[in-house]
Amino acid sequence: MSTDATARGLWPEGWERVVLDTTDSTMAEAARRAASGLAGPTWIMAHEQTAGRGRRGRDWASEAGNLAATLVYRPEATPAEAARRSFLAAVALFEALAIHVDRTRLSLKWPNDVLMDGGKVAGILLESAGQGPFVDWLAIGIGVNLASAPGDVRDAAFPPVALADDGGPKVDAEEFLTHLADAFATQEGKLDAFGFGRIREDWLRHAARLGEVIVARTGTEEITGVFETIDEAGNLMLRTPQGTRAISAADVFFQEGQ
Ligand code: BTN
Repeated sequence: MSTDATARGLWPEGWERVVLDTTDSTMAEAARRAASGLAGPTWIMAHEQTAGRGRRGRDWASEAGNLAATLVYRPEATPAEAARRSFLAAVALFEALAIHVDRTRLSLKWPNDVLMDGGKVAGILLESAGQGPFVDWLAIGIGVNLASAPGDVRDAAFPPVALADDGGPKVDAEEFLTHLADAFATQEGKLDAFGFGRIREDWLRHAARLGEVIVARTGTEEITGVFETIDEAGNLMLRTPQGTRAISAADVFFQEGQ
């Protein structure tokens, strides 16, 4: 318990905290720890990752001073329910970031990126294991560009940005983890009490380009339509001239001039 916020008692009770100097990927570390037994829901943070990974098989560059952390736990959840935790994580991440920057600068891009002034400031990656009706474990990996954005820009549509850019706040990664863990525990409480519908409402309130025309690229097609909502399963619902499409996996792009 080393940071100010942790020492002030913000760290949620019953959630474990592990801070590593370096690891390959906190996702890999989470899988190893899940296989060998977890004392309880555990946040694993690393100051350095040598093999960070992103969504859809991409690499994730972890610049010094940024947050790289994974929550690994055993929610009583089917694979579909576990997958919907990405929206819960996105809402928690939004709230943790909004402690440091004006919330009007933040928005959520389906399925689970956080944008600041239209650039990507944070991403979320889910991995799980299990063969029964419920997942054995779920790992939610979160990368936040606190100090600096990676220079290697792959997705020019959403250039990476950092909280500290242009004289922005310099936020310590361990301190941020405490705020994130606190926000996540709050959202889990909401899920328990009110169900996914409430998380979905909160996510939609922060959604970028809701009601506007966007483009979804799946591996096989490009679908353009009005972003109507997300459904109860977390699918992106796009209204197209051929009817409304429910999209479960895609990269989303915005159209200029809107
Ligand atoms: C994305 O592609 O947007 C998701 C990025 C997720 C990166 C985080 S950093 C902490 C955790 N460890 C990893 O290797 N990846 C996730």
